[in-house]
Amino acid sequence: MSFPRVNSLKTPDDFRRRLGELNVTLPFDETVESGPDSPLGRKYERPAGAIGNRFCILPMEGWDGTEDGRPTDLTRRRWRNFGTSGAKLIWGGEAVAVRHDGRANPNQLVLNESTLGEIASLREELGAAHRERFGSTDGLLVGLQLTHSGRFARPRDKKRLEPRIAYRHPVLDPKFGIADDSPLLSDDDLSRLIDDFVAAAVLAKQAGYAFVDVKHCHGYLGHELLSAVDRPGKFGGSFENRTRFLRDVTAGVRAAAPGLDIGVRLSVFDYVPYRPGPDGTGEPSAAGPYPYAFGGDGSGVGIDLAEPQMFLDVLEGLGIDLLCTTAGSPYYTPHLQRPATFPPSDGYQPPEDPLVGVARQVKATAELKARHPRLAVVGSGYTYLQEWLPHVGQRAVRDGMADFVGLGRMVLAYPELPADVLAGKPLARKKVCRTFSDCTTAPRNGMVSGCYPLDPFYKARPERQQLALLKRGTDDA
Ligand SMILES: Cc1cc2nc3c(=O)[nH]c(=O)nc-3n(C[C@H](O)[C@H](O)[C@H](O)COP(=O)(O)O)c2cc1C
Ligand code: SF4
Repeated sequence: MSFPRVNSLKTPDDFRRRLGELNVTLPFDETVESGPDSPLGRKYERPAGAIGNRFCILPMEGWDGTEDGRPTDLTRRRWRNFGTSGAKLIWGGEAVAVRHDGRANPNQLVLNESTLGEIASLREELGAAHRERFGSTDGLLVGLQLTHSGRFARPRDKKRLEPRIAYRHPVLDPKFGIADDSPLLSDDDLSRLIDDFVAAAVLAKQAGYAFVDVKHCHGYLGHELLSAVDRPGKFGGSFENRTRFLRDVTAGVRAAAPGLDIGVRLSVFDYVPYRPGPDGTGEPSAAGPYPYAFGGDGSGVGIDLAEPQMFLDVLEGLGIDLLCTTAGSPYYTPHLQRPATFPPSDGYQPPEDPLVGVARQVKATAELKARHPRLAVVGSGYTYLQEWLPHVGQRAVRDGMADFVGLGRMVLAYPELPADVLAGKPLARKKVCRTFSDCTTAPRNGMVSGCYPLDPFYKARPERQQLALLKRGTDDA
């Protein structure tokens, strides 16, 4: 299946016509405004203080820390780029494991007493880069994303999963080679993990972060617990039990790190895992009723936001006002999570025009925001829109469908896009991310992540040749 490239949709009419053909709606402004009073330039007021504009940098790791969980020069460069982007909300920087067995790869950052100084310096360098470029850090809010990778943990070997799971999953267990009960986390294990999240939050506060994101997305442990409908005991079954992890972490953080804000990044819907079909196009890997998708309608390929809306009620009840929406998982439904023209090497050809994937996230986010107007809501998945990103983002914010436009891949390719938009400059077309997925393919094959096609710094690295060979091999296969 192939689809018209977004950069072939040259005019607003072309773009709207394509949406019409697809029968999807996206908010859209023909003209993008600039300056501090524009929809994207305006402050967001919250009780804890104003956030300076409506651009947010989404968390993105680079598989480039040291084996003992410290940042390297590559990590620092990425964080400095986040600082010079012009965005005033930095959602978590990147996933940082609260302990060794929860690392998604042997190069993921870990927050503990011995890495504290260096994790703190990442925030300081980001702030310094921002100050140098924009004169001050007023209105800049920087959080840290705390994670345990659960069934996707690879703490010691890039190629070897060492899963820790909340429940036996009928599709994901066979897909990822889990054959027995040994990786199941007991209730006591989860209680200890809650303590580890709290301890990490205390350190994050010491490191100067304004908030921690208690990660609940992308198939990692916090997210998996939300779909633990069959799990016995106090962390499974009822909605109350499945959200106990969040409530207990929050209570612990409030007691041990008063004044530290809490945010949650949530996969607001999920589908059954996908796999490449006979011609390589993604297709559901199981048919029939599917109860394991949080925010799913039970079919495996549809959405029901009733539980995510309840989850947001829980957030409000806990005094949490920072929400970042995302969807699915990069491991089993990448087309939901990061719509792209070109799949990563472990993915599948898009089963739908990726514009449909963008619209799905935008719509779900708007429905959640409508019922929870007091939450500060960051939307994700906009990068595929390319040149049309500011047009859609501005209208979404103007219409209150989201409060912030989250930027993922786009800032790897084009870090200063927010500053350019706010200054009223035309986009630098050569820097616009074309969703080649090299930033995902590289780490899937043991290399550090980065924008190899467009960022001159990564273009010059030897991994670029390795990637080219790898892709040729895939194409020939
Ligand atoms: C290289 C790379 C690393 C990522 N790392 C993280 C991460 O550490 N934590 C997280 O929550 N999401 C992570 N994501 C997902 C992004 O935050 C974002 O949700 C996704 O890329 C979709 O947004 P986009 O369309 O703007 O790229 C990562 C994405 C990429 C491409
Ligand atoms: S490698 Fe660069 S162009 Fe490709 S998806 Fe990642 S950021 Fe975008």
